[in-house]
This record gives sequence, structure tokens and C-alpha cells, in this order.
Amino acid sequence: MTNRVTRRQFIAAAAALGATPLWAGPKSSRATVNSHERRDLFPEGVASGDPHPDSVLLWTRRPFESGDQARLRVEVAEDEDFKQVIASAPAVVCAAADWTCRVLAGNLKPATVYWYRFTDEMGQTSRVGRTITAPAADDPRPVKFAFISCQNVNQGSQHAYRRMIFEDERAPATERLGFVLHLGDFIYEIVWYPEDRPQGMYDRKLRDIVRYERGEKIQDFHIPTTIDDYRAIYRAYLHDPDLQDARARWPFVPMWDNHEFSWRGWQSFQVFDSTTRPQQTRKVAAMQAWFEYQPARVRKSSGPGLERFDPPRVVNVPITRFDAHGLGQEPNNLTALASLTGYRALRWGRHVELLITDQRSYRSEDPNSRPEAADFATKDFPELIPQEVLEILDAGRIYAGGKPPEAIVFSDRQITNFRKQEPPQTILGAEQKAWFLDRLKTSTATWKVWGNTTGALDCRADPKNLPAGLTVPWPGKGFAGFNLGDHSNAYVERAEIYSFVRGEGITGFATVAGDRHSFWAGLAAETLPPRAFDPVGISFIVGSISAPGLVEALEHQLPKDHPLRALYLARPPGSTRPQPAVNMLLRHGVRSCLEYQKSGDAERARSLSNPDLAPHLSFVDMGGHGYATVRASASEWECEFVCIPRPIEHVARRDGGPLAYRVVHRTPLWNKGERPQLEQRVLEGNPVLSL
Ligand SMILES: [Fe+2]
Repeated sequence: MTNRVTRRQFIAAAAALGATPLWAGPKSSRATVNSHERRDLFPEGVASGDPHPDSVLLWTRRPFESGDQARLRVEVAEDEDFKQVIASAPAVVCAAADWTCRVLAGNLKPATVYWYRFTDEMGQTSRVGRTITAPAADDPRPVKFAFISCQNVNQGSQHAYRRMIFEDERAPATERLGFVLHLGDFIYEIVWYPEDRPQGMYDRKLRDIVRYERGEKIQDFHIPTTIDDYRAIYRAYLHDPDLQDARARWPFVPMWDNHEFSWRGWQSFQVFDSTTRPQQTRKVAAMQAWFEYQPARVRKSSGPGLERFDPPRVVNVPITRFDAHGLGQEPNNLTALASLTGYRALRWGRHVELLITDQRSYRSEDPNSRPEAADFATKDFPELIPQEVLEILDAGRIYAGGKPPEAIVFSDRQITNFRKQEPPQTILGAEQKAWFLDRLKTSTATWKVWGNTTGALDCRADPKNLPAGLTVPWPGKGFAGFNLGDHSNAYVERAEIYSFVRGEGITGFATVAGDRHSFWAGLAAETLPPRAFDPVGISFIVGSISAPGLVEALEHQLPKDHPLRALYLARPPGSTRPQPAVNMLLRHGVRSCLEYQKSGDAERARSLSNPDLAPHLSFVDMGGHGYATVRASASEWECEFVCIPRPIEHVARRDGGPLAYRVVHRTPLWNKGERPQLEQRVLEGNPVLSL
């Protein structure tokens, strides 16, 4: 049952979110204003976010040339033509929030489509937005949503959204998306100005989207340094028509990943050119801009206050003292991190509880990004690090039951274990992790969906199986891992979470993730062979909307004469372009890749698959772009990957252009103690090296 809130409770809740309350009336009325649409006056469009069964956040931006604030009117209607307006209220935009406004529309009906728009005092209106409330907690119908990440307007086109809109408009009402989960890299704060890089980036030409007024130039790119710089990049992104149309069609459920603050950022640190710098002021600026541009039920430390963020004052001072979880205790760091809390839970009907976590604000330093870790990487084996090294560096002082080695063997060298005295890595941090585990345990939904902005599936290869003489001997003892800086390398913390899931008998545990710029489907397992393989859930990663992926980078960066080139980019007989063999490397291993290079016969190559390498994986595409959808019902989970060709140039077609492939993975709900299973069906195209 939905607990209907009273009007008074609702107004308090809106204030806590920093949103203007808008209470829907019992009676329908005609539109209160004579209006005409002026999209140019609302240049970033409209958006809605974080739906509940009875309420949803509405957003727009209406800049004014002068003054500090102005009044708009927001209307919510049951029809697109605003003949049945059910709520209308004033909403304030102010210069202190970059003329953005957030309105919490309440007293709405569950699982219902609404339309909304904003009007200024001259009767000029925004475009019309469409939004959808969540189904009530006892609603037994399937829940359908999309999850996406990593849009880069500087380097690509966002027409994956056009395909999403096209397919949703044509779907029967019961199969339409209820919301879009955006798992971050909504913006890329690092921007290349076209003149700084005339050769472009990989396959892409650089688009001239923003000039930072106070930007800092690092190498050949630019980063924001002030709140106005961060605001400028959001505005530039929202002028993209495909993205803007998507925000106007569905409620988004957004979470930041790294680029909303800084490329290699963690806590309040920025890392550039191997130098880690405290940047508390930039972390607050990043959080403020996110709050202003993303309507979401997040908590700002300045407390209730309707129109503005009110950033805490911080200064950039060194962060030198860390607690047992690697959290920097410097007060300005803690204040900056607390300025906006993004982790949260949202519920759709009986079947979906979404637990969204922040992977960047509380994490300890990634040991693999430390300068000392560079000793374990070698050009002989691109991207590959011995798995035992990754495990030792992750676990720090608790490795091997508290007996970490003094030195790590790498080929014929003994390299000092710089992590010997340090605590194990955490990505979630202690406080967020306690919240996450508690919500997992107490959730009554069929599917407990972990919205983890970064991937959790192991990414490894088996260079030990290379034939002698092809290259130098593999410097590790067993498997190789990729250093991805996500839960695939945070073995200790991932094991803690997965063993909790197993211990509590939690079923329907499903992870949806972004960040890797690649499509992955698989099973969530603590360990892989030669250790036990005992999965506790299912795990998916979506390709980027547009940001370049590893395959594109390899095409431009991997030397043509590299002895292991066939493991990454195959050129079998008769092929005209390099093919993404790296997908086969991760799924089947080196023997399959070498066979594929020789014969071009994928089936024969797969017959040489190493069964111990990746029993957790069903699908990998390190070169795919697009989006993923989920349909979660009482009895099964279906996740569909919709992959488009590399989005280098804008495709103006109404359908968003052709597809590369469409593949679906289906999982029947499993019982406690049973192993989850994935069934795969390729519906369109032929992602031959991904299977
Ligand atoms: Fe990304």
C-alpha cells in the first residue's frame, strides 16, 4: 500500500529537497495562462527526476539578463494539450542557482503519465515535458527502465537517445520505459578545444562546445575550476537536441560518476600528471552544479532552502590524515564531501528497489593508480597486470590473513609491497556501505538493483597459455587482470558485499553499471577459478552513449607490429578492418584469439575457449555504444543491449540510425541457495566476437 502523505508532510519534504512544492488538486481545470512556447528562452529545456508513486521533481532553467530572481509558473496536466491541468503554482528562479529551478509535484497518481511546462510572467513557456510517476509498492506489473552512461558531446553524437525515443514511442503503453537511470559521466569536464588538437581524438573530430572562463589547461585539454565553469559545461551539454529531448520525455534518475567532478578524482582530490592535489573548492563547485542541473532526491548540507545550493565555504589545503577506511579527515575535505549526498534508494512497484551508490566521494585511494604501481605494467602485455599483484595491492595489510608479503614477485624482480601497512581498499566507504548492506537486507522488492556507476565484473585474460616464443614470458603467476579501478579490482570489498548477499539469503540481486564504455552481461561472483565459482547475482554494464571505448583507443594506439596484436585487434584472412578480438580475449582467452587470427572462424576459435577464464561472463563488447533496457517482473529479469555503430557523426534520422546489434539476456528469478542463470538471445545483428 502507498502511504499517502498529507499536504503538510509533503511541503516539509519538498523543502528538505530544496524544491518548490506543487500540490495537485482534486479537480481538473483549464490552463491558467495564455501561453506561447519560446524554447529559446528556456535553452536547456525541461527535465524531471526521481519519481515516487505520488510525486516527482520537475526542472527547468530560465535565465534573465538582470535582477536576482524572477517568478515562473509551473503547470502539471493529465494531457499533452494542457486541457486537464491538475496543479499550478509559482516557482522562483534565481541568479544564485544559475536561474535553474526545482519543483516537487505531489499528490499525483501512481504509474501515471503527466505533462508539465513552465511559463514566465510574460506568458512565454518552456517546451512541454512528459514524466511518469512510479507504480505503488504493491503494483504487480513488470517494471521497465533504461540504464545509460558516458555521453561525450565534445567528441561524439548523442543519437543513441534518438533510437531510445523512437523505440519507446512505438512500444505498447505497457512496455514503455518508466524511467531512465543515468549512471554518470553526464558531462566530461575535460574538454579539448578544437584548435588544441587539430588531429581530433581517435576517430572523432572535436566539437567546439564550451570555453571555460577560468579554466585550467593541462596538457592539451581544459578543466573547470569554478562554479561558473562547471555550470557552463552542463549548459553546453543540454543544448544537445537528442539529450534534451530525452530529458523531456522520461524522468531521469541520475547519479554522478567521476567526470562530474574530475577524471581521476577521488574524495576532493584531483589527479593529473601523476600529481594528486587537494581541490576542496572544485569538489563543492562540482556538487553545486550537479544539484542545480540534475533534479534528484539528494541531500545538501546547507539544509532546506528552496532555490539555491548555498555552498559551504572550503579552502584547498593538504589532506594528510586518513581514517581506517582511507577517508581523509581534513575538515575541508569532509565538508566538501558532505555538501551533497547522492546515494539513495527508490522503489518501483513490487519488483524493483534501486539502490544507487556513490563510487567516487568516499573511496580510498586506488592503489593501482599510485606511481609505485607503474612497476607492474609492461608494454609487452598491454593492459594486463598479474591478478595476484592486483589482489595484494587491494588487500593491503589484511592480505593472506594479515601476512602480506614484503615484496611482490614480478617476472624475475622483487618489487616492494608499498601497500603492506595500509588498510584494504574501499570504494563505498564505511558509512555508505553500512547503509547499502542494510537496504539490501531489508528490501522487500523482487529485484534488488544495485545502481553502481562503475562495473563489478572481473575483467581478465590468460597470457600464461600463450605459446612459447611468441613474446617474452608472462611476468605473473596465473591469470592477468585489467586495472579498471572499479569493483573488479576491489576484491576485498566485493567479497564482503557478495558474501553478505549469500549469508542473508538475498535473491534477485542485480547490478547495473556504466563507466567501462562497453557492454557486459554476467554473473556476480566473489572469486573465479582456480578458486570457487559461486555466483550470488547477475551483473550488467552498459556501453557508452557516445564516449570512445577501448577498441577505438587500441585501433589508434596499439603498435601495428606488436607481437600480441591478435589478442586485441584481429586481422583474419579476408578482413578489411581490425576486429575487436579483445572481446574474445576476455571471454575465451588467448588460444581462441590466435585461432581466430589464423582462420577467421569464430566457432572454431571458441572451441579452444579456456573454461576457467571467465565462467562468469556471457557477453563482452569493448567497442559498443548505445543503451540498455531492463524488464523486471515477478518471475524474470530481461536485460536488452541496444548497440549502435560508433557515433562519430550525428545521425539525423527519426529512428536514430541503424543498429549494430540487439541482444537480450534473460534470468528467471532464482530461489535461495540456487545459482542464477543467464539465457542469451541475439535478436538483431551479429556481435560475433562478443559471444
Ligand atoms: Fe565515462
